[in-house]
Amino acid sequence: MIYPIVAYGDPILRKVASEITPENPKNLPQLIADMFETMHQAEGIGLAAPQIGLSIRLFVVDGSKTDDQEIKNFKKVFINPTILEETGQKWAFEEGCLSIPTIREEVLRPAQVRLRYYNENWQLCEETYNGMQARVIQHEYDHLQGILFIDYLNPLKKRLLQSKLAKISRGEVKHNYQMRFPNRK
Ligand code: NI
Repeated sequence: MIYPIVAYGDPILRKVASEITPENPKNLPQLIADMFETMHQAEGIGLAAPQIGLSIRLFVVDGSKTDDQEIKNFKKVFINPTILEETGQKWAFEEGCLSIPTIREEVLRPAQVRLRYYNENWQLCEETYNGMQARVIQHEYDHLQGILFIDYLNPLKKRLLQSKLAKISRGEVKHNYQMRFPNRK
């Protein structure tokens, strides 16, 4: 099942998401499959549960449809993740987000991230990721904390984007996938 993607302006994107258990939500394997399906049809490389209207600590990543060698084999499920440490030099990359279509901006993030999470089989994992893999994880993890990539922009850039963001929240934006807009009239 494909979920509509929640657009910028929806308060769910600003909440700190809650941890889950193997029993709750019901049918987690189906939900995970639906998140991959939703992400693929939107041509995203990451999708966090709040973006489909669920304030739970779960995100999926899949870079297999990109040309980026760093994430070509990067397909994973992260349940109840905690970032343990971010290290290395900050580097800039132009990010986008399925909840904020048409906007892309450079964001600085540390090169490495170490996190603890459960995989789809509820095995506890602790791993370090670098480069693009770290970047995708940091972006998706932020969604679970109620943070969006535009929050990192300087005040001037933020101000310049304001009217565009307001339009996005009203659904006045081009998008090639199903979305749900909080301020649509
Ligand atoms: Ni995003």
